[in-house]
Amino acid sequence: MTPVCLGDFEVRARTLLPKPTWDFIAGGSGAELTMRSNRAAFDAVRVVPRVLRGAALPDPAGRLCGTPAKMPVAVAPMAYQRLVHPDGELAVARAAREAGVPMAVAMLSSVPIEQISAVGATLWFQLYWLRDRGLMEELVGRAEAAGCRALTVTVDVMRMGRRLRDIRNGFALPPHVAAAHLADGAAAASVHADERSAVAVHVSLTFDPTLSWRDLAWLRERTRLPLILKGILDHRDAAMAAEMGVDAIVVSNHGGRQFDGAVAAIDALPAVCAAVAGRCEVLLDSGVRGGIDVLKALTLGADGVLLGRPVLWGLVDGEDGVTRVLSLLREELIDAMTQVGCHDLPSIRDLAHWRQEAPAEHDNESYADGLWSTAPRPTTASRSFSSTSSSGSDGHS
Ligand SMILES: Cc1cc2nc3c(=O)[nH]c(=O)nc-3n(C[C@H](O)[C@H](O)[C@H](O)COP(=O)(O)O)c2cc1C
Repeated sequence: MTPVCLGDFEVRARTLLPKPTWDFIAGGSGAELTMRSNRAAFDAVRVVPRVLRGAALPDPAGRLCGTPAKMPVAVAPMAYQRLVHPDGELAVARAAREAGVPMAVAMLSSVPIEQISAVGATLWFQLYWLRDRGLMEELVGRAEAAGCRALTVTVDVMRMGRRLRDIRNGFALPPHVAAAHLADGAAAASVHADERSAVAVHVSLTFDPTLSWRDLAWLRERTRLPLILKGILDHRDAAMAAEMGVDAIVVSNHGGRQFDGAVAAIDALPAVCAAVAGRCEVLLDSGVRGGIDVLKALTLGADGVLLGRPVLWGLVDGEDGVTRVLSLLREELIDAMTQVGCHDLPSIRDLAHWRQEAPAEHDNESYADGLWSTAPRPTTASRSFSSTSSSGSDGHS
């Protein structure tokens, strides 16, 4: 059956992939509470459509981190894509090129950046902070030489979250998949042991958990590429990032794969945008599953989103599958823009939105207070209203 929404690709991927691979992709950390709340929080956002604005042919094109993009979407960095398809990152890069969107290549890519850049897509290179500072410098140089247009530093993996599915499966990389940028190919990540995630073992051996703002200043001095910090949720960290001159931040909880208990990314977004106040771009990931989610993220203040797991769902069918995922997402976004009377991206940011009441189990809990402490307060006990523009106070009662 032809997929008609991104969720249809998920069903297909779950059927086709070996269980340990599926669990590695689909899983979150701990009880997967944060992972689930990413979706619940998106679902709770309601947008107030505008009418009579003649938006027959919406155009979702814009710029992301200095480069043109046919929609406000980039492919999120995701490790080891040859787990899903033999072409791995090459297939994703070809699909990103066709879709006219940037692709963030993971440091833990299973294909080297030089080969991926030969595809001709707009690439960003994602860095984890390694204990080996010399290797960090070398990777920055390779990314620059390969023509990458930005560096994304992921700041929410001091150590890997406890991903129980991987631990239970004793997940380890199969022989045909390795980290192409690391001299030993992340050897430790391939050593299977019962009830242990080999990928987590590799991370604990090679990532530097002492990463601080000072290290980022070190990186800023060594590259002219735009810097994107990925994994920010607190508005104070966002303000700090803007102050130190980063070009963009990604509001993200790593798709619920790191701290299980973290706020949903879309819930953290309004306060982050307020703190940044336009000083850098604000992107968002974690839970984006369709064009309406892209529109919601922009309505709440984001400049764009990163698409994560749905890309890997498409990748089970190689380049063609990812192309279909990205083109369906664009089609959905254009449809959503038409429905709400928006002809371009700035007009989406002008829409008003409501948050539906929190789920019943959160009633009377401090959670609800905490959630809104840095964001607009609910106007009634059960719902809240907000608009990202000062002129957006019409359209609600
Ligand atoms: C299989 C997989 C591998 C990932 N690898 C990385 C990575 O190497 N670097 C990184 O910054 N984020 C990585 N992420 C996180 C994504 O960039 C993104 O933040 C997350 O997938 C967003 O959540 P969503 O997929 O639920 O929308 C990975 C995510 C998945 C699912």
